[in-house]
Amino acid sequence: MPLAGSRLTATTPGPTTETELSVGSDPPDMIVTGSGSQTFAAALADATGRDLAAVAYDRFPDGELQASVSGFDADHAVVVASTVSSDAHVELLQLQDAVREAGASEVTTVLPYMGYARQDEAFSAGEPVSARAVARAISTGTDRVLTVNPHEAAVCDFFDVPATGVDAAGRLADPLPADLRDPLFLSPDEGATDLATSVRDAYGAGATDYFVKHRDYDTGGVAVEPNDTAVAGRDVVLVDDIVATGSTMSEAIAVLHDRGVDRVFVTCVHPLLAANARTRLHRAGVAALYGTDTIEGPVSRVSAAPPVAGHL
Ligand code: R5P
Repeated sequence: MPLAGSRLTATTPGPTTETELSVGSDPPDMIVTGSGSQTFAAALADATGRDLAAVAYDRFPDGELQASVSGFDADHAVVVASTVSSDAHVELLQLQDAVREAGASEVTTVLPYMGYARQDEAFSAGEPVSARAVARAISTGTDRVLTVNPHEAAVCDFFDVPATGVDAAGRLADPLPADLRDPLFLSPDEGATDLATSVRDAYGAGATDYFVKHRDYDTGGVAVEPNDTAVAGRDVVLVDDIVATGSTMSEAIAVLHDRGVDRVFVTCVHPLLAANARTRLHRAGVAALYGTDTIEGPVSRVSAAPPVAGHL
């Protein structure tokens, strides 16, 4: 009986004797996915040779969720879920519990996108540190956490178990045209400079720079302050961790067009794309908009699973 999809068959030649076959006859790992991360989880299964467990997502008449696994037969569960909504958070907690019930002795939780990570401090009296609250809850059901490009690396410290941020920004270089003209990889605020550098390095050519961003938290409005870098006639690749409302990127595009840029490509790790973000960016004149599959949607052009696979 081949150990199809197990780590054993993924990373080593197949067993050659009966004795080896009988050792650990249960597959050592299975991937269990939340409903919103099925594409990412499938890519992770392909990248690692692990099996995907069968999962059902049910909802009771009162609205409560019940996510469950069937046929789960592994010592180690890799539970994958982007916590893009409150439902996704609950579903993740349920799947962590379900795999323990099914016999997993070890759980690794993969958060392709960690929701609430931007609420990483109490900005005024009485506010929660929401990132810490959700990290603590997730920690109760897992032995470790991997999360892709968390908004701030320090968010990993909120977990009560070892947590690692995985940089998948380099994947964003893949869909770029090979003929970018004097490319500039630009982050719309200083905090995303490392991401722009990752994409530039993966592309293999070009310069990096950043704008300074100011956000008015009362109105939600964004202003980006240009630097002195000449952009006239150049192609610019904007890189950020998240595109949410599109305010940041549409403001950056407007500034760049005022300064005579050629094409502007908008790339992000997590394409949250709330409300009318795609329309705003199209109206702003974006040449192309895409992100990874940490949040699965129409602009998920590349998978962040391969760099995560390297940590499993
Ligand atoms: C915030 O600092 C993040 O890095 C992003 O820049 C932000 O989430 C983008 O939000 P929006 O698309 O709403 O401007």
